[in-house]
Amino acid sequence: MSTVKIKDNIYWVGAVDAGVRDFHGYLTPYGTTYNAYLILDEKVTLIDTVRAPFTAELLENIREIVDPAKIDCLVSNHVEPDHSGALPALVDACPNATVFASPNGQKGLSAYYPGMEPRWQIVKAGDTLTTGRYTFEFLPMPMVHWPDSMTTCLREEKIAFTNDAMGQHIASPERFDDGIGRERLLERAANYYANIVLPYGMQVQSLLGALGKLPVEIVAPSHGVILRSFVNDVTKKYDDWSQNKTDRLKAVVVYDTMWGATRAMAEAVGAEFAARGMAVEYSDLKEDHVSVTITKLLEAGTVAVGSPTLNRQVMPTVGAFLCYLKGLAPKNRTGLAFGAYGWSGESAGLIEEALVSLKWEMLPTRKIRWRL
Ligand code: FEO
Repeated sequence: MSTVKIKDNIYWVGAVDAGVRDFHGYLTPYGTTYNAYLILDEKVTLIDTVRAPFTAELLENIREIVDPAKIDCLVSNHVEPDHSGALPALVDACPNATVFASPNGQKGLSAYYPGMEPRWQIVKAGDTLTTGRYTFEFLPMPMVHWPDSMTTCLREEKIAFTNDAMGQHIASPERFDDGIGRERLLERAANYYANIVLPYGMQVQSLLGALGKLPVEIVAPSHGVILRSFVNDVTKKYDDWSQNKTDRLKAVVVYDTMWGATRAMAEAVGAEFAARGMAVEYSDLKEDHVSVTITKLLEAGTVAVGSPTLNRQVMPTVGAFLCYLKGLAPKNRTGLAFGAYGWSGESAGLIEEALVSLKWEMLPTRKIRWRL
């Protein structure tokens, strides 16, 4: 993959990872990209790097444009290794460079790469870097995705390099949003938000507030395509998702089944929802990975979860889903727990307990013995 010019003096020099299918437990059926950006000015700046196995590709891309030894500023927006994996090699290849990172970024990078000893410049909210004609401004965005995360804005060109925020896991050969189209973009952005960003609504609101004060025309995230045609569409979605705005008339029925009785309950619950005018989607946990199921929930205001009782517990698939759900902690939903059982019958109660812990409003729990 060669470089892509975003604007005069500004290039995408990252890597496409079409084969990755698991991202810390989150399925990535369409692969991903690790976006790094090179900006030419009196001082040369690289924003973020790539996952370590793609280091040679990053260096080759940079060499297409400039000798890496001429890089003066290495901006590390985020410690996670998908963006910092190549940083030690870049520090070696760029002997004159200073590494710019947030305070937590500097601590995290030093811990991850103990042999790396660059010149550091620790940056905080509102700090700037002038490279000649360009001025970069740093905006901390803690917890979007880690405590160290930050966005770097290039004022003169109205570009926000938002790292994980507004990214998408897609290994498209296209580098811009109009190349994949609005619908595909929003579908991939929703999947990414649901699995990566969902617990951090308040922090996303702060980021949107800070970005809203800047004249941003291009959003260049660290995964997926660069936003230039649909910046407002994704920003509006982030605003809604981060406030847990949901549609009460959208329902998802999530379940696993042992001999079909809990599936029959799921279908009965779905039919009742549909009779009340709701759009119903099912998620059979034998078929859907939890990262698919959680995406179905992103805009749904009503969520039913069912499991038969197995050895006084829920089915392992449902247990894994509830664990994932509690971690991502979506708010502002109405829940319903259900399940079939033969004798002890704990499953529906365990599901109810998990959904109540999310402070969801609950519909009456349903249990049936043996079958409907
Ligand atoms: Fe794409 Fe939090 O790393």
